[in-house]
Amino acid sequence: MRNDIEKIILSEGNIADIVEELGEQITNDYKNKDLLVICVLKGSFHFTSDLTRAIKIPCDVEFIQLSSYENDKSTEKIKLIKDFSCSLENRDVLVVEDIVDTGITLSYVVDIIKEKSPASIKVCTLIDKSKNRKTNIKVDYVGESIEDGFVVGYGLDYNEKYRNLSYIGILKNNIFNN
Ligand code: IMP
Repeated sequence: MRNDIEKIILSEGNIADIVEELGEQITNDYKNKDLLVICVLKGSFHFTSDLTRAIKIPCDVEFIQLSSYENDKSTEKIKLIKDFSCSLENRDVLVVEDIVDTGITLSYVVDIIKEKSPASIKVCTLIDKSKNRKTNIKVDYVGESIEDGFVVGYGLDYNEKYRNLSYIGILKNNIFNN
């Protein structure tokens, strides 16, 4: 799998440092709140797992699953695959995303959450590709900002592959042609 990666942009160590820092900020910001962390599947499963362990206050974890990408292109048509199975009413909701690109997926998730009367909604993403943004969604916690390029690893996939890499890297161009 390493042969398919052009360049590593976040090593395992870099990710651990980012997660620790975000966990500390979230711990401080959510003291005395009723924190409910929402993992947006599938891409943010590793990040949510590590981040929740870096959060040092009690929190619940819930999952939602959407799909928007086909190969390396955002289709802009979001499909809801798995809805919430708990009430969000009066909860302090923190949405955890792997990557925000156009922002369309995140806007869709936030709109669904707003209808469920939470006390507050904030968003945390490991990677922000803000150059491609098509919505004006606010991202409250950002791990790393990148210019562009299709990245894989640590939950992020290309055609369901590479999610199990422990680092994040840019995929080589020739992989898209296969
Ligand atoms: P958006 O709706 O364009 O912001 O895209 C959000 C979703 O698309 C993310 O949750 C990812 O699943 C996927 N995505 C966007 N950019 C990348 C990338 O560079 N690598 C892998 N998946 C990506």
